[in-house]
Amino acid sequence: MIQMRDISKCYQLGGEKVHALNKVSFDIGNGEYVAIIGPSGSGKSTLMNIIGCLDVQDSGTYRLAGTDTSKYSGRQLARLRSTHIGFIFQGFNLLGRLSALENVELPLVYQGIGRKQRRQRAEEALGSVGLADRMKHRPAQLSGGQQQRVAIARALVAKPKLILADEPTGNLDTGTGSEIMDLFGQLHTQGNTIVLITHDPGIAARAQRALRIVDGKIQQEEDQEG
Ligand SMILES: Nc1ncnc2c1ncn2[C@@H]1O[C@H](COP(=O)(O)OP(=O)(O)O)[C@@H](O)[C@H]1O
Ligand SMILES: [Mg+2]
Repeated sequence: MIQMRDISKCYQLGGEKVHALNKVSFDIGNGEYVAIIGPSGSGKSTLMNIIGCLDVQDSGTYRLAGTDTSKYSGRQLARLRSTHIGFIFQGFNLLGRLSALENVELPLVYQGIGRKQRRQRAEEALGSVGLADRMKHRPAQLSGGQQQRVAIARALVAKPKLILADEPTGNLDTGTGSEIMDLFGQLHTQGNTIVLITHDPGIAARAQRALRIVDGKIQQEEDQEG
Protein backbone atom coordinates (compact mmCIF):
# COMPACT_ATOMS: atom_id res chain seq x y z
CA MET A 1 0.00 0.00 0.00
CA ILE A 2 2.72 2.46 1.09
CA GLN A 3 6.33 2.24 -0.02
CA MET A 4 8.72 4.99 1.11
CA ARG A 5 12.32 5.03 -0.06
CA ASP A 6 14.89 7.54 1.23
CA ILE A 7 12.29 10.24 1.75
CA SER A 8 13.84 13.54 2.83
CA LYS A 9 12.26 16.90 3.50
CA CYS A 10 13.91 20.16 4.54
CA TYR A 11 12.33 23.39 5.66
CA GLN A 12 14.11 26.69 5.18
CA LEU A 13 13.49 28.91 8.17
CA GLY A 14 15.31 32.23 7.76
CA GLY A 15 18.93 31.20 7.23
CA GLU A 16 18.41 27.87 9.03
CA LYS A 17 17.77 24.60 7.27
CA VAL A 18 15.62 22.18 9.26
CA HIS A 19 15.96 18.55 8.22
CA ALA A 20 12.41 17.43 9.10
CA LEU A 21 12.80 13.99 7.43
CA ASN A 22 16.13 12.35 6.75
CA LYS A 23 16.12 9.38 4.33
CA VAL A 24 13.06 7.69 5.74
CA SER A 25 12.26 4.24 4.31
CA PHE A 26 9.49 1.83 5.23
CA ASP A 27 6.66 -0.26 3.80
CA ILE A 28 3.09 -0.58 5.00
CA GLY A 29 1.10 -3.44 3.53
CA ASN A 30 -2.54 -3.73 2.62
CA GLY A 31 -4.68 -4.30 5.72
CA GLU A 32 -1.96 -3.35 8.21
CA TYR A 33 -2.53 -1.21 11.29
CA VAL A 34 0.61 0.82 11.96
CA ALA A 35 1.35 3.54 14.49
CA ILE A 36 3.95 6.22 13.79
CA ILE A 37 5.24 7.38 17.15
CA GLY A 38 7.74 10.06 18.12
CA PRO A 39 8.21 13.12 20.30
CA SER A 40 7.10 16.60 19.34
CA GLY A 41 9.16 18.00 16.46
CA SER A 42 10.37 14.57 15.31
CA GLY A 43 8.77 14.87 11.86
CA LYS A 44 5.45 13.05 12.32
CA SER A 45 3.25 15.71 10.75
CA THR A 46 5.68 16.20 7.90
CA LEU A 47 5.56 12.46 7.26
CA MET A 48 1.78 12.35 7.52
CA ASN A 49 1.46 15.20 5.02
CA ILE A 50 3.59 13.28 2.54
CA ILE A 51 1.73 9.98 3.12
CA GLY A 52 -1.55 11.87 2.62
CA CYS A 53 -0.27 13.58 -0.56
CA LEU A 54 -0.82 16.99 1.04
CA ASP A 55 2.87 17.78 0.63
CA VAL A 56 5.71 16.49 -1.54
CA GLN A 57 9.15 15.25 -0.47
CA ASP A 58 12.38 16.95 -1.60
CA SER A 59 13.96 13.64 -2.54
CA GLY A 60 13.20 9.93 -2.43
CA THR A 61 10.32 7.90 -3.83
CA TYR A 62 6.83 7.45 -2.44
CA ARG A 63 4.66 4.80 -4.04
CA LEU A 64 1.02 4.72 -2.97
CA ALA A 65 -1.05 1.71 -4.05
CA GLY A 66 1.66 0.85 -6.59
CA THR A 67 2.05 4.26 -8.23
CA ASP A 68 4.95 6.69 -7.84
CA THR A 69 3.19 9.80 -6.50
CA SER A 70 5.75 12.13 -8.19
CA LYS A 71 4.14 11.15 -11.51
CA TYR A 72 0.90 12.92 -10.59
CA SER A 73 -0.09 16.56 -11.16
CA GLY A 74 -1.58 18.59 -8.30
CA ARG A 75 -5.03 17.94 -9.68
CA GLN A 76 -4.47 14.19 -9.91
CA LEU A 77 -3.10 14.18 -6.36
CA ALA A 78 -6.28 15.89 -5.14
CA ARG A 79 -8.31 13.19 -6.84
CA LEU A 80 -6.09 10.48 -5.34
CA ARG A 81 -6.65 11.97 -1.89
CA SER A 82 -10.41 12.05 -2.20
CA THR A 83 -10.73 8.49 -3.52
CA HIS A 84 -7.89 6.67 -1.72
CA ILE A 85 -7.40 8.33 1.66
CA GLY A 86 -9.69 9.01 4.60
CA PHE A 87 -8.30 11.68 6.94
CA ILE A 88 -9.00 11.93 10.67
CA PHE A 89 -7.61 14.87 12.64
CA GLN A 90 -7.16 15.72 16.30
CA GLY A 91 -9.59 18.65 16.03
CA PHE A 92 -12.32 16.67 14.15
CA ASN A 93 -12.52 19.36 11.41
CA LEU A 94 -16.29 19.12 10.96
CA LEU A 95 -18.34 21.92 9.40
CA GLY A 96 -20.37 23.49 12.21
CA ARG A 97 -23.35 24.56 10.12
CA LEU A 98 -23.95 21.12 8.68
CA SER A 99 -25.61 18.15 10.36
CA ALA A 100 -23.67 14.97 11.07
CA LEU A 101 -25.29 13.41 8.00
CA GLU A 102 -24.38 16.36 5.74
CA ASN A 103 -20.78 16.36 7.04
CA VAL A 104 -20.45 12.67 6.18
CA GLU A 105 -22.01 13.21 2.74
CA LEU A 106 -19.47 15.89 1.77
CA PRO A 107 -16.71 13.64 0.36
CA LEU A 108 -19.34 12.04 -1.87
CA VAL A 109 -20.56 15.46 -3.04
CA TYR A 110 -16.99 16.19 -4.20
CA GLN A 111 -17.00 12.88 -6.04
CA GLY A 112 -20.20 13.79 -7.86
CA ILE A 113 -22.24 10.94 -6.42
CA GLY A 114 -26.01 11.43 -6.65
CA ARG A 115 -28.14 12.64 -3.77
CA LYS A 116 -29.97 9.44 -3.01
CA GLN A 117 -26.90 7.23 -2.98
CA ARG A 118 -25.02 9.83 -0.96
CA ARG A 119 -27.64 9.85 1.75
CA GLN A 120 -27.81 6.08 1.90
CA ARG A 121 -24.04 5.66 2.18
CA ALA A 122 -23.70 8.43 4.78
CA GLU A 123 -26.45 6.82 6.87
CA GLU A 124 -24.68 3.50 6.61
CA ALA A 125 -21.33 5.01 7.67
CA LEU A 126 -22.90 6.81 10.65
CA GLY A 127 -24.65 3.60 11.64
CA SER A 128 -21.33 1.74 11.56
CA VAL A 129 -19.82 4.13 14.13
CA GLY A 130 -22.84 3.89 16.42
CA LEU A 131 -24.48 7.21 15.57
CA ALA A 132 -27.67 6.08 13.83
CA ASP A 133 -29.66 8.17 16.32
CA ARG A 134 -27.62 11.38 15.93
CA MET A 135 -27.70 12.02 12.18
CA LYS A 136 -29.57 15.34 12.32
CA HIS A 137 -27.43 16.77 15.11
CA ARG A 138 -24.92 19.51 14.39
CA PRO A 139 -21.35 19.18 15.76
CA ALA A 140 -22.01 21.62 18.65
CA GLN A 141 -24.89 19.36 19.77
CA LEU A 142 -22.57 16.34 20.03
CA SER A 143 -19.93 15.32 22.57
CA GLY A 144 -16.24 15.27 21.58
CA GLY A 145 -16.26 11.50 21.19
CA GLN A 146 -19.40 11.67 19.04
CA GLN A 147 -17.85 14.40 16.88
CA GLN A 148 -14.79 12.22 16.31
CA ARG A 149 -17.12 9.35 15.35
CA VAL A 150 -18.75 11.62 12.76
CA ALA A 151 -15.27 12.47 11.45
CA ILE A 152 -14.46 8.75 11.26
CA ALA A 153 -17.71 8.07 9.38
CA ARG A 154 -16.76 10.89 6.97
CA ALA A 155 -13.32 9.32 6.48
CA LEU A 156 -14.92 5.92 5.77
CA VAL A 157 -17.79 6.92 3.52
CA ALA A 158 -15.80 6.97 0.27
CA LYS A 159 -14.40 3.53 1.13
CA PRO A 160 -10.77 4.68 1.02
CA LYS A 161 -7.84 2.28 0.66
CA LEU A 162 -6.05 4.00 3.54
CA ILE A 163 -7.21 5.61 6.77
CA LEU A 164 -4.78 8.25 8.04
CA ALA A 165 -5.30 9.55 11.57
CA ASP A 166 -3.23 12.34 13.22
CA GLU A 167 -3.50 12.25 17.04
CA PRO A 168 -7.19 11.25 16.80
CA THR A 169 -7.63 11.01 20.58
CA GLY A 170 -5.62 14.16 21.37
CA ASN A 171 -8.70 16.25 22.22
CA LEU A 172 -10.56 13.50 24.10
CA ASP A 173 -10.54 12.35 27.70
CA THR A 174 -8.96 8.95 28.40
CA GLY A 175 -12.21 6.96 28.47
CA THR A 176 -13.60 8.48 25.28
CA GLY A 177 -10.20 8.13 23.60
CA SER A 178 -10.18 4.46 24.49
CA GLU A 179 -13.61 3.99 22.86
CA ILE A 180 -12.32 5.66 19.70
CA MET A 181 -9.30 3.32 19.77
CA ASP A 182 -11.71 0.36 20.09
CA LEU A 183 -13.40 1.64 16.94
CA PHE A 184 -10.05 1.75 15.09
CA GLY A 185 -9.48 -1.83 16.21
CA GLN A 186 -12.83 -2.83 14.67
CA LEU A 187 -12.03 -1.00 11.44
CA HIS A 188 -8.77 -2.91 11.23
CA THR A 189 -10.53 -6.23 11.82
CA GLN A 190 -12.88 -5.32 8.96
CA GLY A 191 -9.88 -5.11 6.61
CA ASN A 192 -9.02 -1.41 6.60
CA THR A 193 -5.42 -0.21 6.32
CA ILE A 194 -4.75 2.28 9.12
CA VAL A 195 -1.84 4.62 9.80
CA LEU A 196 -2.11 6.36 13.13
CA ILE A 197 0.19 9.20 14.19
CA THR A 198 0.71 9.70 17.91
CA HIS A 199 3.16 10.81 20.59
CA ASP A 200 1.42 8.51 23.13
CA PRO A 201 2.96 5.05 23.66
CA GLY A 202 -0.33 3.74 25.13
CA ILE A 203 -2.16 4.64 21.91
CA ALA A 204 0.65 3.28 19.70
CA ALA A 205 0.50 -0.03 21.57
CA ARG A 206 -3.01 -0.61 20.19
CA ALA A 207 -1.63 -0.92 16.64
CA GLN A 208 -0.07 -4.07 15.14
CA ARG A 209 3.25 -2.41 14.59
CA ALA A 210 4.92 0.85 15.55
CA LEU A 211 7.43 2.90 13.56
CA ARG A 212 9.43 5.16 15.87
CA ILE A 213 10.65 8.43 14.44
CA VAL A 214 13.26 10.60 16.15
CA ASP A 215 14.88 13.70 14.61
CA GLY A 216 13.46 12.87 11.20
CA LYS A 217 14.79 9.31 11.13
CA ILE A 218 13.05 5.98 11.61
CA GLN A 219 14.79 4.62 14.67
CA GLN A 220 13.44 1.18 15.17
CA GLU A 221 10.51 -1.02 14.33
CA GLU A 222 8.55 -2.53 17.13
CA ASP A 223 6.45 -5.60 16.54
CA GLN A 224 3.69 -5.95 19.00
CA GLU A 225 0.72 -8.17 19.65
CA GLY A 226 -2.18 -6.69 18.00
N1 LIG B 1 6.60 24.92 7.74
C1 LIG B 1 7.71 24.71 8.45
N2 LIG B 1 8.75 25.60 8.36
C2 LIG B 1 9.90 25.41 9.06
N3 LIG B 1 10.11 24.35 9.88
C3 LIG B 1 9.12 23.46 10.01
C4 LIG B 1 7.87 23.58 9.30
N4 LIG B 1 7.08 22.53 9.64
C5 LIG B 1 7.79 21.79 10.49
N5 LIG B 1 9.02 22.32 10.72
C6 LIG B 1 10.09 21.76 11.58
O1 LIG B 1 10.34 20.43 11.14
C7 LIG B 1 10.51 19.56 12.23
C8 LIG B 1 9.44 18.45 12.21
O2 LIG B 1 8.16 19.03 12.43
P1 LIG B 1 6.81 18.18 12.46
O3 LIG B 1 6.79 17.28 11.28
O4 LIG B 1 5.68 19.12 12.61
O5 LIG B 1 7.00 17.31 13.78
P2 LIG B 1 5.92 16.58 14.74
O6 LIG B 1 4.64 16.51 14.01
O7 LIG B 1 6.53 15.26 15.05
O8 LIG B 1 5.82 17.44 15.96
C9 LIG B 1 10.44 20.43 13.48
O9 LIG B 1 11.76 20.77 13.84
C10 LIG B 1 9.66 21.64 13.01
O10 LIG B 1 10.03 22.77 13.77
MG1 LIG C 1 2.75 17.23 14.54
